[in-house]
Amino acid sequence: MVATKRLITCALPYVNNVPHIGNIAGSHLPADIFARYCRLAGYETVFIGGSDEHGTPTEVAAAKLGVKPRELCDRYYEVHRRIYEWLDISYDNFSRTSRRVHHETTAEFFKKIYENGYVTEGTLRLPYCDHDRRFLPDRYVEGICPSCGYASARGDQCESCSTLLNPDELKEPKCVLCGNTPVFKETKHLFLKLDKLEPELKRWIEGKRRIWSQQVYSMAMGWIKEGLKPRCITRDLEWGVKVPIPGYEDKVFYVWFDAPIGYISSTKEWAQKIGKPQEWRQYWQSDKARIYHFIGKDNIPFHTIFWPGMLLANGDYSLPYRVAGLQYLNYEGGKISKSKEWGIFCENMPNAGLDSDIWRFYLTYLIPETSDTEWKWREFKERVNRELVANLGNFVYRTLSFIKNNFQGEVPDAELSREDEEVLEKSGKHAEAYEGLMESIRLRDGLRKVLEVADMGNKLFQEREPWKAVKEDRERAAATLYVCANLCYDIAILLSPFLPRSAARICEQLGVELGTLNDIANQRIKPGTRLRNVSPLFPKLDDATLEKLRKITTRVTKFEEMFKKRVSIDEFAKHDFRIAEIVSAEKIQGADRLLKLKVRVGSKEKQLVAGIGGQYSPVELVGKRIVVLDNLKPAVIRGVKSEGMLLAAVDRKRISLVVPDKPIKSGSKIR
Ligand code: MF3
Ligand code: ZN
Repeated sequence: MVATKRLITCALPYVNNVPHIGNIAGSHLPADIFARYCRLAGYETVFIGGSDEHGTPTEVAAAKLGVKPRELCDRYYEVHRRIYEWLDISYDNFSRTSRRVHHETTAEFFKKIYENGYVTEGTLRLPYCDHDRRFLPDRYVEGICPSCGYASARGDQCESCSTLLNPDELKEPKCVLCGNTPVFKETKHLFLKLDKLEPELKRWIEGKRRIWSQQVYSMAMGWIKEGLKPRCITRDLEWGVKVPIPGYEDKVFYVWFDAPIGYISSTKEWAQKIGKPQEWRQYWQSDKARIYHFIGKDNIPFHTIFWPGMLLANGDYSLPYRVAGLQYLNYEGGKISKSKEWGIFCENMPNAGLDSDIWRFYLTYLIPETSDTEWKWREFKERVNRELVANLGNFVYRTLSFIKNNFQGEVPDAELSREDEEVLEKSGKHAEAYEGLMESIRLRDGLRKVLEVADMGNKLFQEREPWKAVKEDRERAAATLYVCANLCYDIAILLSPFLPRSAARICEQLGVELGTLNDIANQRIKPGTRLRNVSPLFPKLDDATLEKLRKITTRVTKFEEMFKKRVSIDEFAKHDFRIAEIVSAEKIQGADRLLKLKVRVGSKEKQLVAGIGGQYSPVELVGKRIVVLDNLKPAVIRGVKSEGMLLAAVDRKRISLVVPDKPIKSGSKIR
């Protein structure tokens, strides 16, 4: 069976932050280049993505900002979507795991696994922090990795050796919130029987020996050799996909259980969008299609063991054909980090004034295909100037402007010599080599091939000296320019997966439609084709521009600001803040931190309960003038009536009462 369809996926990004260039070079861009290549090569291609919205990090990030996880995701989803759009990442669909189609697909997917007997119930001893009074999600426990000895391994996975872990396997576990040693308490959870799936998984992985990269293959085999254990697929959280069986109403699926199913739900959504709701089956339930996953190296175990295991247990879907695992992109000698303000942050790129293709160009060089790579501004400038401006851009511009100036702007007609034919054939050979490289996802080498064609063109132009020939042997000059125009066309086709805008501009200037890979050997440009708007393709980068780009794109946007709630003057005016004098203070029995205060606001006296007992003793409070919210609705706290609220500043455990800085009458209004 020939596979004529391809489904390409990019690891679904978490949307509790914004993407930086490492995320682009490490997944979205290579997936996009490959998807564009597949379309060019004539495969029916669907390129899907989406946001990975559930999970603890999102819940915790939202809590920190004082918003609901959904609001956090709504906002960041938009930021992500806009960035990928600006960078021309050609998603056919970019979904969200919070959408209904995904929740339904996940529930169904699970039920089938459950019916097939691959889910078992077990009691889990989960880390519980007595100090923070909560079950700690895997990621909130750190300790020593039992496999490699790395000191700060997370409870779900060791960052150093990538081994999947359960929190109770860590040696010397610590709560990352407070540093205390958690206690382990028992609760019921569901597990995927990876152990039962092991023989089948092993056979499947062995079949990938020649298809996957050495690194991906040997990592996957390594885990198989260690032996697979059942893996927990439920969590004690609120934000996530509900578990559709009785007894699990308070739990949700583990984010790594629902997220990869997002690949299927996003494909379903795509099918609905194009008006063929069943079309997704052509990609997930047909041997005419191949599935390609593009992911970062930390995702390799999930995509070579856990997700295929889920698919095998379910039985209704195809397994991935290729898992392209990518390494990391660093920035100027260090790891990219938002908190350390180190890196290029994509939300600023559109404001920097540089075409997205130029970013894509250098980022293609930095796709960490085989090892980590590093952004260097100096190299960025050099590569752009040398390879794009002086080589490719120069060749296209000199060819087209020569035709414009010497052949009335029309691709000349000419008798081709044997030598001319050979040049065109050579370009065809480059295209074949290019195809081979792209098929094995060696995208950087693919781009190099394109530049080789441009280089070949420049050499030809130099050798043939058409500026002399046009006076001495016009026919020969015409043949040279005909050949060069065709090379420009070939370049545009080959370049289009990498620099789609520039490829389109070359074609526009050439006055032709962008062809497919097949056209390179077949569809020559017709003599007489009229050129349009001939102009240089790329700007040369100078130091001043580079500096400006650096300034703009390395800035860290305070997205947290988006979540700040604003109040109007009218809303503020509803609050009746007054100066009050503390008349008496006493501890509330059984609640160390709470104090019962009697205060005088002008002539009336009232009672407040305040949580400042950890920092203030009753005696030091009596006689102080403070600020209270006088019109707060009365409440009963620990059985004690509270008729207002005092104002205090809080910095972690430090508390400081807000007090007037001049003597002022009790009852004075604050405005
Ligand atoms: N959100 C994950 C990450 O950024 C990737 C999820 S990939 C999927 O590491 F398979 F779950 F979709
Ligand atoms: Zn704690």
